Amino acid sequence: MSDEAFFTLHRDLPREGPGTAEDVHWALSVIDRPHYVIDAGCGPGADTETLAEALPEARIDAVDQVAHFVAEARALTERFGPRVTVRVGDMAALHGPADLIWCAGAVYFLGLEAALAQWRPVLAPGGAVAFSEAVFLTDPPGRAARDFWALYPAMGSEAALQARIAAAGYRTLASRRIVGPAWSAYYEPLAARIARLRPGADAELAAVLDEAESEIALWRAARGDVAYSLCVVTPR
Ligand SMILES: C[S@@+](CC[C@H](N)C(=O)[O-])C[C@H]1O[C@@H](n2cnc3c(N)ncnc32)[C@H](O)[C@@H]1O
Repeated sequence: MSDEAFFTLHRDLPREGPGTAEDVHWALSVIDRPHYVIDAGCGPGADTETLAEALPEARIDAVDQVAHFVAEARALTERFGPRVTVRVGDMAALHGPADLIWCAGAVYFLGLEAALAQWRPVLAPGGAVAFSEAVFLTDPPGRAARDFWALYPAMGSEAALQARIAAAGYRTLASRRIVGPAWSAYYEPLAARIARLRPGADAELAAVLDEAESEIALWRAARGDVAYSLCVVTPR
């Protein structure tokens, strides 16, 4: 997939995964008020902005490996001044001590176990990781959910996710499902952009549009059977 075709589709989309500002507020409501927050895999920065608005005294460091997303997130958050930084970096090599590592829809890039192990020394005492990860709501998963699963091989049930968190030496402070509108908030703008770009797309762009369209179709078929589980966890 060429970067140019990918960003023709993804440029200036509000988010790169399911979620809403309300999810950020909920996660903040279950922990002590953080002073230093890292947004790991911040994408275009929707959650960085929400964190900065919700925590007017906190320092926030947003990190993404893709310069294009970093530029978008910077533009979105520059009004907060130097307490909010957005940089190109690897979320596997974070520096703390952080009171909260927020990671929406990105933990699977590292793998949950690797992420939780790498972030343990980055957390301040009493610090927490809030992450969202795709899960099945039906066990065993139905056909549509299994097709969606092919996109995310690490996906399992909510119980399996909780078992992985415990096995990684963390305790879940709270968790909840991200369903319905939060997924639409990601997929509907993407679907509208695909429809707009389809006429006149060259072969490279058409391939990118086909891939995204097929992911949206898989999600629409499986939407009752899949969710993101938003988990706030802390080292045991
Ligand atoms: C599914 S997107 C979610 C983006 C954003 N959190 C949101 O909800 O809109 C995952 C993001 O993680 C970033 N990412 C993946 N691996 C990374 C790594 N090792 N270090 C930093 N960012 C990474 C990708 O570039 C992408 O922007």
